[in-house]
Amino acid sequence: MSLRDRLQAQIAETGPISVAQYMTACLYDPDYGYYATRPALGPTGDFITAPLISQMFGELIGVWVASAWEQIGRPQRFRLVEMGPGDGTLMSDVLRAARLAPGLLEAAEVWLVEVSAPLRAKQAERLGDAVRWAAALDEVPGGEPLLLISNELLDCLPARQFVRTAVGWAEQMVGLDAAGQLAFGLAATPAAGLLPDAAVGAVFEQSAAQAALGAALGQRISADGGAALLIDYGRDAAGFGDTLQALRRHEKVDPLACPGEADLTVHADFPAVLSAARAQGAQTAILTQAQFLSNMGIGARTETLLRARPDRSATLGRQLHRLIGADEMGELFKAACIHSPGWSPPAFEACDA
Ligand SMILES: C[S@@+](CC[C@H](N)C(=O)[O-])C[C@H]1O[C@@H](n2cnc3c(N)ncnc32)[C@H](O)[C@@H]1O
Repeated sequence: MSLRDRLQAQIAETGPISVAQYMTACLYDPDYGYYATRPALGPTGDFITAPLISQMFGELIGVWVASAWEQIGRPQRFRLVEMGPGDGTLMSDVLRAARLAPGLLEAAEVWLVEVSAPLRAKQAERLGDAVRWAAALDEVPGGEPLLLISNELLDCLPARQFVRTAVGWAEQMVGLDAAGQLAFGLAATPAAGLLPDAAVGAVFEQSAAQAALGAALGQRISADGGAALLIDYGRDAAGFGDTLQALRRHEKVDPLACPGEADLTVHADFPAVLSAARAQGAQTAILTQAQFLSNMGIGARTETLLRARPDRSATLGRQLHRLIGADEMGELFKAACIHSPGWSPPAFEACDA
């Protein structure tokens, strides 16, 4: 039985499911979910991410970690955590760059928070026994300062979708059409009165899981000190829009077409994540990816690499443009920071919310 068959049977028996429930099944089902069975990153997989585009991305995040560690007083013990580490490339580049700060690697207890068994195996191949794994943030012990990084994790966390109809808000559901196939439909929702006013046709997305992660990070960082750097594609102001997207072999496909076989995402809702963190006493700031990487010195880093390898100038120029170009990842992707009060982490000086 495929995941599609199972979902169709379940919906026939118990009724339509929310988009968040559908995302949860497609991504996290222990037998058929995308992350349990096949997450495929890179040029031959389903999608590509910034660490795989250029080593500069991870190296500059390594410099960010090293500078943040120095700014919080070079604690002799701290937890360096990556959530959703993919194939381990980002952490490997971070650790190489962070080695330049004397004493940092000795002070760092490195944790990877990962739900995917196939990806854990890839991370172990790349990073060996220098790291520890957890399946959720709350399995990483507290009590020491935290420096946490994550790239393209928030977009995997399930969201509900609401559609403004002529008679008010309704929830977008996944049900069955007349032929018994998965199909979108609308259902009345008790949340209707709580949603913001909008024009007919507007779509509002709400991710309890993203907000819960913001709250958990805010609480942890307020208690233990430190900072979290969350990079993802998404909005930096509250807004509307249907951002549910399925990617398979780098092509957009119908999100209902192949449950469990495509990467299914929604935009990160940074306003909700950061507001949940502030409610726990943390401070927050947000930049575009282009601003963050420029503040961290991507221009100078590109020139250094160019001097060392002038034969690679066309490739380096292309990589730089993909990371910071306004028509590529530069504006759509945001870099958000949740940090303990009383300091401004590197790159985020002068932009605290
Ligand atoms: C889109 S990939 C990004 C990988 C990597 N950060 C990169 O930029 O190449 C998402 C990663 O998050 C992991 N992941 C998905 N949901 C997660 C969750 N709820 N908790 C922890 N990791 C999760 C996936 O297994 C994968 O490693």
